[in-house]
Amino acid sequence: MGGLVAAALPMRSTASVGFDPASRVFRLDGEGVTYAFGIDSAGQVQSLHWGGPLALDDQLAPAPKPSDYSGFDRANSVTPLEFVAFGGGLVTEPSLKVAFPSGVRDLVLKYLDHTLTSEGITLRMKDISTEVYVELRYSMDKATGLLARSAVVDNRTKAWLRVDQMAAATLNLPFGEDYEVNYLTGRWAAEWTLQKRPLEAGATVLESRLGMTGSQNNPWLAIGRAGLTDEDNGPVWFGALAWSGAWRITVEKDIVGHPRITAGYNPFDFAYRLKPGERLETPVFYAGFSHDGMGGASRRMHRFQRSVILPGAPEPKLRPVLYNSWEATEFAVNEVGQIALAEKAATLGVERFVMDDGWFGKRNNDHAGLGDWTVNPEKFPNGLEALISRVRGLGMEFGLWVEPEMVNPDSQLYRAHPDWVINFKGRPRTEGRNQLVLNLARSDVRDYVLKSLDLLLRDNDIAFLKWDHNRSWSEPGWPERAPEDQQKLYVDYTKNLYWILAELRRRHPKLEIESCAGGGGRVDLGIMHLTDQVWPTDNTDPFDRLKMQDGFSHAYMPGVMMAWVTASPNWVNKRATSLEYRFLSAMQGCLGIGDNLNHWGQEDFATAKRLVAEYKSIRQTVQRGDLYRLISPQGGSERSATLTVSETKRQAVLFTFLHSSSTFDATPLIQLQGLDPQARYAVRSLVGAVEADTPKIASGSYWMHHGVRIPLRGDFQAAALVLDVV
Ligand code: GLA
Repeated sequence: MGGLVAAALPMRSTASVGFDPASRVFRLDGEGVTYAFGIDSAGQVQSLHWGGPLALDDQLAPAPKPSDYSGFDRANSVTPLEFVAFGGGLVTEPSLKVAFPSGVRDLVLKYLDHTLTSEGITLRMKDISTEVYVELRYSMDKATGLLARSAVVDNRTKAWLRVDQMAAATLNLPFGEDYEVNYLTGRWAAEWTLQKRPLEAGATVLESRLGMTGSQNNPWLAIGRAGLTDEDNGPVWFGALAWSGAWRITVEKDIVGHPRITAGYNPFDFAYRLKPGERLETPVFYAGFSHDGMGGASRRMHRFQRSVILPGAPEPKLRPVLYNSWEATEFAVNEVGQIALAEKAATLGVERFVMDDGWFGKRNNDHAGLGDWTVNPEKFPNGLEALISRVRGLGMEFGLWVEPEMVNPDSQLYRAHPDWVINFKGRPRTEGRNQLVLNLARSDVRDYVLKSLDLLLRDNDIAFLKWDHNRSWSEPGWPERAPEDQQKLYVDYTKNLYWILAELRRRHPKLEIESCAGGGGRVDLGIMHLTDQVWPTDNTDPFDRLKMQDGFSHAYMPGVMMAWVTASPNWVNKRATSLEYRFLSAMQGCLGIGDNLNHWGQEDFATAKRLVAEYKSIRQTVQRGDLYRLISPQGGSERSATLTVSETKRQAVLFTFLHSSSTFDATPLIQLQGLDPQARYAVRSLVGAVEADTPKIASGSYWMHHGVRIPLRGDFQAAALVLDVV
């Protein structure tokens, strides 16, 4: 099962794969991309091309003979290698670093053999003097040109081998002085901040040491060229690591100026001891290239996610409109109160009613109950049955919040099994939100978690779990293991998490899951393969969201990004906004409602009902279409606008927002993108109105080259238009 998540997923249709024995050059060719590497005369595997497509009959020259730059910088540190071990005097970031029982920590890998199939390439390397083997795996998705790379180290020596550092891949970019690295940073309630910095000599390190993906950095990056690359134009090399444990992506520029990316397990506090015959496999690093700027890069990424990564790919199910109880009732959930909310939600056209935290154990606040996944009998005297059957009777699905990897010290579970948490013997157990992390790497803990959720799902008609994870790790020990094996926690925990998710889905094929970690702390391509949607942030302020949603969309598709309409003023900034503004902000992703409906008036219900119905008519486009970020909300911009064009180009949806107008500003013309220039589109406004002289119907060319004017005046204004081919 571990292999299921670590190995590259089967691509929908694989790219052309080739090897030329004369030049010893390998090639993978997908839509708009060629990736090539070759074996040099020293038996090293060198990168030869990652970028725009070459003609299939173009011959790449063999990999050049490697040579030292100086006595300080030997060939292996200044040659663009596909995977390089610490050894032979390497001074750059290693893809692999090991230790032998003898104390030797030198490993020099040389090409051994390869297998080539229509699915991809597996290339084997071997150490020059020991029985240590490494497999490099390559495959490419033809339609998007996304390359999947991973590696396996195989200990065939007669003794143990300790892996101290291991990457899925090293990827080399063409030589250049003008690169800029784009990446995402954040913190709780402020995730998805887009950052950019020049790639200068030295290294840029993006990482999580937290045992989880984290929101401080997200395992995604995109590299453009200053002056050449913008939102719509220019080359972009991008990639993302499919791993939900501690990870690191290092972008280096070596002493001669070669830029390279190394991505994999975070070597910080890492060690994985392999017995003779054991192997360690890395997660997959997915890498892509676009010639159409940052917008083109994210559209490729989004298409790849929906056609390869998501459950149900290439046709993942559309996200239902949901209601969530958290901001309405927090821990004070009970049968009567939830049924009252469900009845109101149903009148709006909500399709899935989700009860959040508070329903289990002694969970009256965040100090108790985690770990005890049984229904609280005071709040729910009839179990969940009465609530669920009412929700089902109202025509909605039922969903439930869980946080299965955690335990409160004040719980039956912890009192029975204080040894089940991650800890160092004899050291304090640092709490986060009054809770400790269960050691999922232990098979008894893994089995307990699976069993409690399985029972819950068997006994109740539950269509959906919101799977939360509200703290990062501390004291990452595994006292039941020998000291030299305790750090296996970093790999085995995440593999077991994936295993549980996969097993639950296997046993309950209709189950859908949301990945949440106190907001957007666990969003990555690894978890996305096993979950249907993600919660990007606890921050539900509709204005703050615009910038976060923009950041998010650089790496991940809006079709998994949940967004709720909640109370005004919002708890985050005490900012008041109209219901329509809140709806339009949330409609940029997957719509949910999280306000206390008991506080709504008739007019609110009417507005919400109308906009939920409108959302359903555009959600295929919003969730599956191609996103164009027309006006960025980054950098203090007063305005922002996004356009999503359906896969068939028959529908497009425009959202535009204004922070505040001043000094009688002119209304800008917004030029659309991605439409069929010949088709004729009728324009219809969902909220707001277009300038009076706007034609009702015009060609794609007109909307793209002339544009549309939407007058917005005031503070926190929003409008949305739909264009349909007539
Ligand atoms: C986390 C989640 C919230 C909510 C609470 C419940 O903070 O991100 O959406 O579920 O937990 O305790």
